[in-house]
Amino acid sequence: MEKSTGLKKIKTVVFISGAGSNLKNLIKFSKKKKSPISINLIISNTNKAKGLKYANQFKIKKKIFNFKKKNTTEENIFLYLKKEKISFICLAGFMKVLSKNFIKKFDGKIINIHPSLLPKYKGLNTHERAIINKDKFSGCTVHYVNTKLDSGKIIMQKKVRILPKDTSLSLAKKILKKEHKLYPASIMKIFG
Ligand code: GRF
Repeated sequence: MEKSTGLKKIKTVVFISGAGSNLKNLIKFSKKKKSPISINLIISNTNKAKGLKYANQFKIKKKIFNFKKKNTTEENIFLYLKKEKISFICLAGFMKVLSKNFIKKFDGKIINIHPSLLPKYKGLNTHERAIINKDKFSGCTVHYVNTKLDSGKIIMQKKVRILPKDTSLSLAKKILKKEHKLYPASIMKIFG
């Protein structure tokens, strides 16, 4: 990935499906002078994603793509991103799995945040699994997206201690706070 020159920010899209706290945090980060990226587009697979409100709040373009016909949808997304000159993709709570074909088109240009210390707990229900297994630590990972789920090269991780009183909800909250530090830090690491 080319380094940012500081003159022009890298046009970025954030894919969401839910609350969008990472999206909000990335938008705030992108507005800082030091940020190598600008957030120019928000994509969701559902109009129910609460995070879409940040598109209005921060006056960022949003697009909803229904994933019922995945291949056609991804082709449309690809064409749209090309048209908008977007060259970097951040997944933030995006609940659809992108196809190999799409990922290959953006090789090394898609990153994701995952709420576990990968390679542990790929997929869903990470906090429940960490608690059931009586792990002492969990955390979050920012990684490149490759064609295998939650398996791409790790960019950065942050650890969180799991206390005996923790529930999956309290753990999720603690980890989300760390995610908000880790995602911008990882982007700085990539383009720094
Ligand atoms: C985060 O925990 C993220 O790691 C996971 O989904 C959650 C999204 O939260 N992939 P938010 O929508 O950014 O608030």
